[in-house]
Amino acid sequence: MNVLLAGGAGYIGSHTCVELIEAGHTVVIADNFANSCPEAVRRVEEITGASIPLYEADVCDRAATEKIFSENQIDAVIHFAGLKAVGESVEKPLLYYRNNIDSTLTLLETMEKFGVNNFIFSSSATVYGTPEEVPLVETMPTGSPTNPYGWTKLMMEQILTDTAHARPDMSIVILRYFNPIGAHESGRIGEDPNGIPNNLMPYITQVAAGRLPQLGVFGDDYPTHDGTGVRDYIHVVDLAKGHVKALDYAGDHKGVEIVNLGTGTGYSVLDIVKAFERVNHIEIPYVIKPRRAGDIAECYADASKAARVLGWKAEKNLDDMCYDSWNWQSKNVNGYK
Ligand code: NAD
Ligand code: UFG
Repeated sequence: MNVLLAGGAGYIGSHTCVELIEAGHTVVIADNFANSCPEAVRRVEEITGASIPLYEADVCDRAATEKIFSENQIDAVIHFAGLKAVGESVEKPLLYYRNNIDSTLTLLETMEKFGVNNFIFSSSATVYGTPEEVPLVETMPTGSPTNPYGWTKLMMEQILTDTAHARPDMSIVILRYFNPIGAHESGRIGEDPNGIPNNLMPYITQVAAGRLPQLGVFGDDYPTHDGTGVRDYIHVVDLAKGHVKALDYAGDHKGVEIVNLGTGTGYSVLDIVKAFERVNHIEIPYVIKPRRAGDIAECYADASKAARVLGWKAEKNLDDMCYDSWNWQSKNVNGYK
């Protein structure tokens, strides 16, 4: 298929681009570089040997989006183009609602106009809110997100479900990602956050690189095996391969499917720190800090639906994630800059 990757220059989009090309698909990327840069796409071209049409475009902009569809025969859209900083979404809720929801509506309307029926969406485990039990199964009720970012994901899941019901010719796969970390094994593409990282693994790699003095561990009094928060970390290359499977599925089915993309295993903050130190032979100094507002104790997936419906299962382990995260950061101390 010829796949439009909206937000394809970003962390997950760039890795998905590599896997799609290696699986025999062709891609077109649209990105406004709000949180990425063209260099990431250049490096995907270097890894794959493919030439990738790249549009600097805001997919909330209808004219710019229609231009892409009129210049390319698009068979499917994967929509990564969202703003994702939880804290910033609390400060600037309208920016988040406008960008994340408008981009989705514009893409869906443009697809309808051009007769494109396959849509894959980047949702998040955040839609489960504060879980009553783990592992999280897709049929469990969604919760009340604790921030506007999470609400945009929940609202978009509703918009997509309603759209699929109204348009029986469409195939929509909503992927609920757990915690992607790691990088392509080449070390040429990876996660490159702006400013001080909010997320655990980029923070650890920047401590390892000497860019930050020490890690703050947010809380050691959670009801978990060592008191620190537990998450389902998934290698970004596994996550990317999940999109290839979702695309295959969309090509053969109609309607809407919601699928967790996680490993099914939870690791604590200190599990991650210890694994990173062991695999990379680098000490990570840390201090225990108070809990971070909005955090939950434990979050990990029941990954069985992805195996059953998509024929997908994560293959890489925690050591791979720690090794590849550091391989990327150590070769690119200042990211793509
Ligand atoms: P990212 O910021 O690296 O990638 C998003 C890309 O979209 C960026 O390149 C950005 O410039 C682009 N973009 C944003 N708004 C745009 C617009 N209006 N028009 C065009 N391009 C636009 O983030 P990521 O980690 O690759 O995440 C991709 C998607 O997955 C996002 O929707 C995010 O909310 C979702 N997600 C991410 C995580 C995670 O932990 N990384 C977890 C769950 C869900
Ligand atoms: N943590 C620290 N110190 C840090 C950063 C994080 O101790 O400097 C801890 C957190 O308290 C949490 C764990 O590490 O226990 C993971 O935190 P992240 O910020 O890496 O990830 P979250 O699970 O909080 O959030 C991520 C994405 C959200 C998404 C959510 C659910 O950032 O966008 O997963 O998918 F909504």
